[in-house]
Amino acid sequence: MSGYILAIDQGTTSTRTMIFDANMAIAGVAGQEFQQFFPDSGWVEHDAEEIWESVLSTSRKAIEKAGIAATDIAAIGITNQRETIVVWDRETGEPVHRAIVWQDRRTARFCDELKARGLEPLFTEKTGLLIDPYFSGTKLAWLLDTVDGLRARAEKGEVCFGTIDSWLIYKLTGGRVHVTDATNASRTLLYDISENRFDDELLDILSVPRAMLPEVKDCAADFGVTDPAIFGAEIPILGVAGDQQAAVIGNACFAPGMLKSTYGTGCFALLNTGEDRVVSSNRLLTTIAYRLDGKTTYALEGSIFIAGAAVQWLRDEMGFISKSSEAEELAKTADPNQHVYLVPAFTGLGAPHWDPDARGAVFGLTRATGPAEFARAALESVAYQTHDLLEAMKKDWGDKRERTVLRVDGGMVASDWTMQRLADILAAPVDRPVVLETTVLGAAWLAGSRAGLWPDQAGFAEAWQCDRRFEPEESDGARQAGIDGWKDCVARCLTNRP
Ligand code: G3P
Repeated sequence: MSGYILAIDQGTTSTRTMIFDANMAIAGVAGQEFQQFFPDSGWVEHDAEEIWESVLSTSRKAIEKAGIAATDIAAIGITNQRETIVVWDRETGEPVHRAIVWQDRRTARFCDELKARGLEPLFTEKTGLLIDPYFSGTKLAWLLDTVDGLRARAEKGEVCFGTIDSWLIYKLTGGRVHVTDATNASRTLLYDISENRFDDELLDILSVPRAMLPEVKDCAADFGVTDPAIFGAEIPILGVAGDQQAAVIGNACFAPGMLKSTYGTGCFALLNTGEDRVVSSNRLLTTIAYRLDGKTTYALEGSIFIAGAAVQWLRDEMGFISKSSEAEELAKTADPNQHVYLVPAFTGLGAPHWDPDARGAVFGLTRATGPAEFARAALESVAYQTHDLLEAMKKDWGDKRERTVLRVDGGMVASDWTMQRLADILAAPVDRPVVLETTVLGAAWLAGSRAGLWPDQAGFAEAWQCDRRFEPEESDGARQAGIDGWKDCVARCLTNRP
């Protein structure tokens, strides 16, 4: 019976592929890490071919683990690290350069120039984004300027530009299809999110030839069928969304005012604002949460670059723990009377500060400070950064909601201690779902519902289950003192203070 869904989560450091059965239960999982390249300070690259290989091998392994055949798979859903770009030859499929990753800061000076030319309001008005190296547009401009003859080839339509979803669809369909979805397009800095089209004026400013751009589709749509040589069957690709948007879907945040925050390498909080394209006055992003049946739902997004990566830092660089899961136990033993703060601006600061040149710092050290206080400060830094995002969201979204409930997901949310601190610092309840794999579940739902196998939006939202609600417990005074201390430390790290 072809009732299974294969969902691919192509992330920043690893690819995970899952098979879901007709009851939305996981039947097989396979994951694989791949190499990170750091060719220069602040530069981050991936090998697009290696990413494709990881998708291929995890898909095959997941199918094997589920004990099914490719012909049992009704549809494929894809979710992916966003903003990362690949440019490849349309005929041969060969990438012209390594993928330039969302974390890459190589275009920081170019972004400064664009801002100095007064262009940020124009980009924000059309794309909902800010001018920052994070987004795809300036990375693509850099590539077109740097790779010999690339712009001429792009003008002739000989090369394709894509985010990772586009690249994977091209490969899965044997080079026949060059498309993307509205959520990924909304991260390129080239896409007008009101008009739902790539914008000529922005393309002109960044000198990007239209001929290299993918066609943009809804998140649940016909994205082509797999080349039978790949899995031994033609499987339709029916769902695509950037990973943070897929987490909005997987967490069933379908109603305006619902908020999710995903704690992976970084942390990305998205507030569903419905049909309202809310313009942020607090340096948050306005983005497409999803587009279904031609109808766009918008979100306000706060992006933090370092969340789980702070725990990896404790493990890999500081050697305080040997496994990420040990951070919680260590943090619990910290002396609460030492007010140690870690500002993890390792790759600059994202929302709401957008300071690519800021760097990390630890404050409040005494002779008694040890690994436990570092662990506590690292975990709390994630909660404090979330607080800053939610504070900005509240200002932008107004007091339309009295009480915010946050749905969380991602690796870090397994830690009860961290989730309790999050609820305390936010002074708001935090809901942890039963299914923590919300990102990949979101991609699977797009494909499964499009295939007519999974419930519709309302049915899926009803099936969402809370594992545990964390209620705030800290006193207002202690909470406010903590926040004031944090804000003071962040201010001392900023290089772009007004
Ligand atoms: O915007 C970047 C984001 O999509 C990356 O997510 O989970 O791969 O770190 P992740």
